[in-house]
Amino acid sequence: MKDKYRIPRGTYDILPQDSFKWQYLEKVFREVATNFNYYQITTPIFERAILFERSVGDTTDIVEKEMYKFKDKKDRIFALRPEGTASVVRSYVENNLGDFAYPVKLFYFGPMFRYDRPQKGRYRQFYQFGVENIGSNDPFSDAEVIALAYLFFQKLGLKNFQLEINSIGCSNCTKDYDNALIDYFKPFQNDLCQDCRIRIKKNPKRLLDCKVPSCQKIARNAPSMLDYLDDGCKQDFEEVKSYLKLMKIPYRINSRIVRGLDYYNKTAFEFINNNLGAQNALAGGGRYNGLVEQLGGKNVPGIGFAGGFERLILSMDQENLPFGDRENLDVYLVAIGKKAREMCVVMLQDLRRADFSADLGVENSSVKSQMKKADRSGAMFTLILGEDEIVKSSVILKNMLSGEQLTVPFSELIPTLKSKLISQS
Ligand code: HAM
Repeated sequence: MKDKYRIPRGTYDILPQDSFKWQYLEKVFREVATNFNYYQITTPIFERAILFERSVGDTTDIVEKEMYKFKDKKDRIFALRPEGTASVVRSYVENNLGDFAYPVKLFYFGPMFRYDRPQKGRYRQFYQFGVENIGSNDPFSDAEVIALAYLFFQKLGLKNFQLEINSIGCSNCTKDYDNALIDYFKPFQNDLCQDCRIRIKKNPKRLLDCKVPSCQKIARNAPSMLDYLDDGCKQDFEEVKSYLKLMKIPYRINSRIVRGLDYYNKTAFEFINNNLGAQNALAGGGRYNGLVEQLGGKNVPGIGFAGGFERLILSMDQENLPFGDRENLDVYLVAIGKKAREMCVVMLQDLRRADFSADLGVENSSVKSQMKKADRSGAMFTLILGEDEIVKSSVILKNMLSGEQLTVPFSELIPTLKSKLISQS
């Protein structure tokens, strides 16, 4: 294949034999989110770039290095969305969603785009699932959002994952903490990477999130945010933890979690699978109390999380977990002769109208080759129509599991098939 037609680096095709995995994850996530009273929202794949620059933050790796930015024909600057929260909050403000519910509970799926170095579990186009709970400052909402992710992973049967939580405080606590970080990192200034030397002036917390190993080593002994929380943030964090205990959700405190996006405050959390290697976060999220206002709305709090389907599939494959089965085809039709073929086309349409899954080969090939196709299709039944059957106004119905064959009059086909399929399931 010519190189120019190859798939872009860091992307992948979801092939027909794997699609059921994705459908299964979407189905289970939709069920869990709906049980938590969340409603689906779908936003565009591209937005004005400034939306992400303002919200995710222009000193973050995501915006600074990883965003797919482009100009449209009128020279307006857009970006492929690197994440979903900014778009959901934009839509919340633009459509006054806060007028309709309190809190507004939303879930979403969709592709996100980050120009990062591809590796196991890290892609340039990846598929996120996520929720946003906008309006409530109650620590119960924090715990509920975490519980939703936890229950989703449990429903999938996952065992190898660990919830880590932290509080990164509010703007009130951040000032003192930022100063403590500056004091801590200053003596190491010459050992820090180029980006971190800028970050120390612009946004010291980002140093804790640097991916350069030498910076990570220095950051290991940096002061902990938990020592700088004000009374309100401390109290809220205690309440989040006690709700998690009530819900029997095990967690570990990890004061190193800062998250790679600027809009966070207070609760921050990640679900980690340590068997995944470097890209071990199954999902991550936190509270973003200033974001709605920052994007032109009222002073409304919010909390949410997002995770990646690719890492979930890797984790499920590692634990040999099932993704449900694609349902078998109900019936494959085999026609012998031109007249039978025409009658099969009519029957096929009738069967599909009556909600059976049914198929017929595209060519008028030999009986042997049609029977082979019926076998390969995995159908529960094969319907055979030849000259003899036309004369008797009936078809032969072969049970592909038992091999049993019976003659069924045309008029009885649909009820017979229905009862046979029910008794088989
Ligand atoms: P994030 O931590 O940047 O948060 O991404 C969430 C999840 O998306 C990660 O834990 C990981 O599972 C997956 N992910 C991120 N980047 C990649 C990649 N390059 N390849 C594969 N998977 C990836 C957010 O995006 C926030 N919007 C989450 C949030 C929602 N916070 C509040 N509400």
